[in-house]
Amino acid sequence: MKETKITVHTGFKIGRVDPRIFGGFLEHLGRAVYQGIYEPESIHADEHGFRKDVLQTIERMNIPLVRYPGGNFASGYHWQDGIGPRESRPCNYDLAWRSIEPNQFGTDEFIRLCRKMKWEPYIAVNLGTGTPEEARNWVEYCNIPPGTTYSNMRKANGNDAPFKITYWGLGNEMDGPWQIGHGPVKNYAVRALQAAKLMKDLDKSIQLIVCGSSSSKMESFPDWDYEVLSYLGDHIDYISLHRYMGNNNHDTPAYLAETRSIDNQIETIDALCRYMQTKHRSKKRVYLCFDEWNVWYKNQTVDGSGEFAPHLLEEIYNLEDALLVAGFLNSFIRHADAVKIANIAQIVNVIAPLITRGDDLLIQSTFYPFIMFSGRAEGFSLRLKIDGPGYMTEEFGEVEYIDSSAVLGDGCLHIFACNRHLTEEAEVIISIADGELVSLENGELLCGPGPEAANSFEQPDLLKSIPFTEVQFPGGNARFKIPPLGIVALTLSLK
Ligand code: AHR
Repeated sequence: MKETKITVHTGFKIGRVDPRIFGGFLEHLGRAVYQGIYEPESIHADEHGFRKDVLQTIERMNIPLVRYPGGNFASGYHWQDGIGPRESRPCNYDLAWRSIEPNQFGTDEFIRLCRKMKWEPYIAVNLGTGTPEEARNWVEYCNIPPGTTYSNMRKANGNDAPFKITYWGLGNEMDGPWQIGHGPVKNYAVRALQAAKLMKDLDKSIQLIVCGSSSSKMESFPDWDYEVLSYLGDHIDYISLHRYMGNNNHDTPAYLAETRSIDNQIETIDALCRYMQTKHRSKKRVYLCFDEWNVWYKNQTVDGSGEFAPHLLEEIYNLEDALLVAGFLNSFIRHADAVKIANIAQIVNVIAPLITRGDDLLIQSTFYPFIMFSGRAEGFSLRLKIDGPGYMTEEFGEVEYIDSSAVLGDGCLHIFACNRHLTEEAEVIISIADGELVSLENGELLCGPGPEAANSFEQPDLLKSIPFTEVQFPGGNARFKIPPLGIVALTLSLK
């Protein structure tokens, strides 16, 4: 294959990469909370019932913020069921996943976990069966000093100091007919507006995320987003985007090219936000919160059949899925001026990079691109000029074999590059127009025997990122080769 030349200039900054794009998501769904994060019976449990093996591995992901308690679950969840003495909490039938929810893990446990993991909590309120007032009361429980009805409840539950939760989501995927409480956009917008006002009147410091479309494939996309921004533009701080990808047609080249559509989804919603800002003569720019993203298509078991902690959405990830994850992250970095928060959905057992089986833990392929990016993305995203070979796709025309993003750090350049070629290695040259690349600080590579290669409990280390050192520096450029379907992350010193 002909080489690919990537040219950057340190002056062509898109925006600072927000560390919150490496956020996570924990939902009461399947075995995410129970048997994932929280399992007092496990040999790995700490004194609070959290699984140490799971948390220690998640720590490697550098996650700064986690969304909770759903997802679809949020639309039927009454937060007061999850507080107070554990033995008197109700056991409920959750309609989102048709599962038993014993409420042994609730707001106080989630905040304890956040403190332990140094995560910023991000709570999605119930605008499905819940009222705007119930949402407002949750803010009071969490953020107001003792002395009022709900803050006193928190105090009685052992937490005198307010939790100071900044991020609050106004419902979840309310455009989706599957969502509890789904209705016409106007219904949602009015309720969200009422909730936003009550919540912000109580605590001005909070930041609100309104529900945008649940996917760019929805028929109502982007009209739904237009409407919610029309109603709420001045009252909210972010609009949510969701996206799940899949190789449904068993066509790997087309699947790998799909990441192009993430760029398109982001650019469409960002354009709407800017349009609304002008239309409303507002000083406030609404940013993008991509609070659910991942690969999800293989495991469609979504019905818990009335069980507790059923095996739902337990997707097994392979090498091509890892390239998609890298593609999402490349796209978020390339749009650093607009995407300020993103949450991989989810963190354990449910469409997740980690899977537990009894007391064992498996790290999946998608874990590796995540850590390769999150460990080295501090700085400013740079505009790239990519000249290299590509291939024809039905949906996007010609797509380059190399998908990439670059971040200007302190005296260094971080480069992320994926080779979409199935069988050939790709030679890449990075050239910096106003400087020189002189040496490799560190590098990592993920590759494997084929697109469908995946880790399993029997073969847990088939796919694993390894140190990458094969970089030459001819004439101030960096030159290296990426194996077929490989992902490379490099930190290069600059002069
Ligand atoms: O992440 C799994 C589910 O996908 C979430 O609950 C929902 O918001 C989305 O449809």
